[in-house]
Amino acid sequence: MSHAVAEERPVEHGDALNLLRQEVAAAPGPEAAAQRAVEVLHDRFAHYDWIGVYWVDGTDLALGPWIGPEATEHVRIPIGTGICGAAAATGQTEIIDDVNADPRYLACFTTTRSEIVVPIFDGGEVVGEIDIDGSDLAAFDDTDRLFLEEIAALLAPLRPRQ
Ligand code: SME
Repeated sequence: MSHAVAEERPVEHGDALNLLRQEVAAAPGPEAAAQRAVEVLHDRFAHYDWIGVYWVDGTDLALGPWIGPEATEHVRIPIGTGICGAAAATGQTEIIDDVNADPRYLACFTTTRSEIVVPIFDGGEVVGEIDIDGSDLAAFDDTDRLFLEEIAALLAPLRPRQ
């Protein structure tokens, strides 16, 4: 049997994607839609402790909608700085099993142990990213990456226009 990854998608990922497509279509505007997206992800996935969307703004990433136990001080991150800035610079998803072992890590919350950052592309360019912090070591794997890359595609048209 072939190993098409889509066949192995957990049912809860398919359900969340369907719900998000509906919510995005029904939202009164792009900002509300993006906010709703982070809320749905946070509600449905217990290991997504803090979720933020950063949008590219010039040479920085600027924090857009977020949800989690506390606000981050990192509301602007230069592209190239931190794990967020690395993902934006390379266009590659970053999965960090142990943030304290990664010298690039910009600390936000004392509870964070692991992190995933998934770039958002529009027309081949990185226009933003999804950043999720987890309070367990190695909270994220390739299943999260594939799922969040689909979510990223859904978020791309919601970016603020400059
Ligand atoms: N940890 C990120 C900074 C953003 S906070 O996690 C919300 C980084 O290293 O880039």
